[in-house]
Amino acid sequence: MSSTLSETKTSVSRLRCINCGSTADRVDQDFRCPHCGDLFEVVYPGWQAPDGTRAAGLPAENLKQLWRERKTSQGSADTSGVWRFRELLPVLKSEPITLREGNTPLYDLPRSAHAAGMQSVQAKHQGMNPTASFKDTGMTTAASFARLEGFRWVACASTGNTSASMAAYAARGGMRSLVLIPEGKISWGKLSQSLDYGAVTCQLRTDFDGCVRVLNELVKRRPIYLLNSVNPYRLEGQKTAAIELLEQLDWQSPDHFIVPGGNLGNSSALGKALLEMKELGLIARLPRLSVIQAEGANPFYRTFREYAGKKLVPMQADTLATAIRIGNPASWKKALRVIQATEGTVEQVSEVEIALAKAEIGSDGVGCEPASAVTLAGLKRLVKQGFVKPNESVVLILTGHVLKDPEFTLKFHRGDLFTGSPHEKEAGALVPQQRTPLVLDASVDAVLQTLERFDSEK
Ligand code: F0G
Repeated sequence: MSSTLSETKTSVSRLRCINCGSTADRVDQDFRCPHCGDLFEVVYPGWQAPDGTRAAGLPAENLKQLWRERKTSQGSADTSGVWRFRELLPVLKSEPITLREGNTPLYDLPRSAHAAGMQSVQAKHQGMNPTASFKDTGMTTAASFARLEGFRWVACASTGNTSASMAAYAARGGMRSLVLIPEGKISWGKLSQSLDYGAVTCQLRTDFDGCVRVLNELVKRRPIYLLNSVNPYRLEGQKTAAIELLEQLDWQSPDHFIVPGGNLGNSSALGKALLEMKELGLIARLPRLSVIQAEGANPFYRTFREYAGKKLVPMQADTLATAIRIGNPASWKKALRVIQATEGTVEQVSEVEIALAKAEIGSDGVGCEPASAVTLAGLKRLVKQGFVKPNESVVLILTGHVLKDPEFTLKFHRGDLFTGSPHEKEAGALVPQQRTPLVLDASVDAVLQTLERFDSEK
């Protein structure tokens, strides 16, 4: 890969256990510390000069200029919105597997802002990635390292988006992929992606947490590269979304960053980027990073609010936002650390609040999948609580595209999303947002009458 600063010794990385601090250059296939069983993270000892100050090879202004210049380059690593920031990634001694991931837009959401009682709200839409979710930014890094290490097989347990992304990157990189998903609990759009990209797709009769248990055993028995977010190389790629966002904001930190929480890899990755950017002088102050969970899949909310961050009690998770239907999140300690370091918080939202927020984001012409909409729903709660002030700047991280789960959207607009569920009564509040598809006679008059009816609406 053509490079300048990335080949200097400042970007030499190591893996360090987040619990016992032991370091390693290589780790076992389950990415667990052999001493204490906790997770590893990538650290960059070269970023510090021997006297503890910042290394001379990483002046913030030079980095910003270099990254800006690469926007006009046609080099394959430069056109990736992940590898463009490679000075802050582990050195990859080969060409990356890339689908031109990253490079995602930042949108204003005026209607959503109004609904939340905010003057303005912005959204970084990670659903605008090649396989339509944020997972691609982490998959380009981890899949590239898998290929470099000579693996023939890669695998993941997934609620649908990781598997779609992994299958695509494995195919691009000439590797085989194995997907373990909970039977009947992921959207058809996501399942169809992994089939199309050629993955061996197994629907296990269990939930996401059950799939993780099976996979962890599997990788100990066969040379299969694990691509879940316990893999620290995935989080390094995912962290670039925050770097790209700050570049889009001309390196002026917003007051708040709001992220959906499932397995908690993404919030950990984005938070890591914020702390690193502060350390390197790329930004002057830290935004507060807050995580939002669905009420039916809220183990981390309970960790934060009920157990003072001391423990995570796994639960049987259930939510229509199937992407975050996770009861035993692997990266909770990493996520807790960044929330505490940035003075953020954790909130939970109901099923009806998620559905409403998703329609509101749609009404801004942007759209997203249900798990992404917890961000706006959570923001509303945080504004009511006074944690977010109406004149503060907020960026929501939208994690998946609206077409990932069309069934949810259709049921919502037809008004039967909550039929027969305990939320049926509460769901009356959704009627004003519903746009039922109309069936009419094939006559101009029938269409004109309909138009007039809608034209008289405010
Ligand atoms: N939003 C979407 C659309 C997701 O697919 C996920 C996770 C999350 C949010 C939560 O991110 O797990 O890093 O806290 N999806 C994983 C998957 C678990 O298998 O696709 P997280």
